[in-house]
This record gives sequence, structure tokens and C-alpha cells, in this order.
Amino acid sequence: MMTDGFIIAIDGPAGAGKGTLARRLADHYRLNLLDTGLTYRAVAHRLVTHGLPLDNISAAETAARQIDLAAMDRDTLSTHAVGEAASRVAVHPSVRRILVDKQRDFASRPPGAVLDGRDIGTVVCPDAPVKLYLTATPATRARRRMAEIEARGGQADYERVLADIERRDSRDMGREDSPLRPAADAHLLDTSEMDIDAAFEAACVIVDQALAARTKA
Ligand code: C5P
Repeated sequence: MMTDGFIIAIDGPAGAGKGTLARRLADHYRLNLLDTGLTYRAVAHRLVTHGLPLDNISAAETAARQIDLAAMDRDTLSTHAVGEAASRVAVHPSVRRILVDKQRDFASRPPGAVLDGRDIGTVVCPDAPVKLYLTATPATRARRRMAEIEARGGQADYERVLADIERRDSRDMGREDSPLRPAADAHLLDTSEMDIDAAFEAACVIVDQALAARTKA
């Protein structure tokens, strides 16, 4: 099946299952994969390790220019604290512009890509033939986060995890530049009552339809 230059855009709030779904789709359709959240996390991590404040815009711009998408270390960047810091860095439009350019460049490489984030369908790849918007209730997302933390041998307090998720949602949805929202032509998938296999099956139906439409065109 033809997938050349094919882009799948996945957006949604933290803990909705975007990362797992993106990986499954990239494997299945043999597309490149970019977790764009890591780019914001990498900038935040660089500032924190250099002892710089997250609102130092020129330092954040320099860090953003230096990010190498191929060298982002998921283990270092995946902590809860880095995610929180990333959402503070992500409010700066000039930092976003630098990272969005890199993300678009990645998306343009053959054979195509799955990108997940907050603004993929609205800003980064507005012409993507498939746009998915994943949601789940805050309580479901908080329970998933707890399970992830516990699976790594850690401990967390449910009320705190829930409060963090709600605060991050409101920062991501409320910012002026590129707020988190579904694109007008996005397919909404509510994963509250769905496991990953069901979400994957639902997404494949949508992707297969888009691929069939391309083949005909
Ligand atoms: O998805 P992840 O939790 O790794 O994202 C961390 C933060 O990076 C998000 O809370 C959001 O503020 C920011 N982000 C963004 N745009 C993206 C991806 C992530 O603003 N495309």
C-alpha cells in the first residue's frame, strides 16, 4: 500500500495514550515516528541543568536551536518534573517556531511520519491526511500515570497526580500560541473506556480509509 509522504497527526492531553498509539501506528504502517513533546522537554531539561530560569526566552531559543531530534534521550526526559517544566517553556512563541521548523522538516522526510503532540493537526502539519485527537477523562489519565509510575518501581499520590494533570491541561489549552485543541477535521477518539488495542483498531480503520482515498486520487 502506498504510504509515501503520508502523515498521521496525533494530538491530545497528557496521558490520553498518544505515545503508545503513535508507536503502534508507526510500526504497523512503517512510518517515521516523532514524539514532539520530547523536543519541548529537551529544551526545558537543558535550561534546568544549566541552572537557568524557564522564562529566560533567549536561553530557551538557543537551547531549541541546539536540539538534535536524533539524540533526545527518552529516559532522561520522561520524568514528571521535566514534563511540567516543558509546558512552561512551550508557552514562548519564538521557542515554538524553532521547534516547529524542526518538526516539519522531520515530517517531510520519506516515507512519511507519525507525529504526536498538542498542535500537530492545527499548526505543525495542518495538511496531514489523518488527524486523530485522543482524549480521556482526567481521572482515567491520572490512574494511567499512577500505573506507569508504579510499574517503574516509584510511588505517587493519586490526588497530586490528578491535580498536576489538570494544571497541565489548563496551561496547554489556555496558552495564546498554538493551544491544545482538536483540528476541525480531526477524528476524536475517547480512550476512557478503550484499551490500547481498541484505540489502535479504531485508528487503523481511519488510516486505511485515508490511504484508500489517496490510492484512488
Ligand atoms: O507530551 P508531553 O507530556 O511530553 O509534552 C510536554 C509538554 O510539552 C506539554 O505539556 C506541552 O506543554 C508541550 N508540548 C507542546 N506542543 C507539542 C508537544 C508538547 O506544547 N506539540
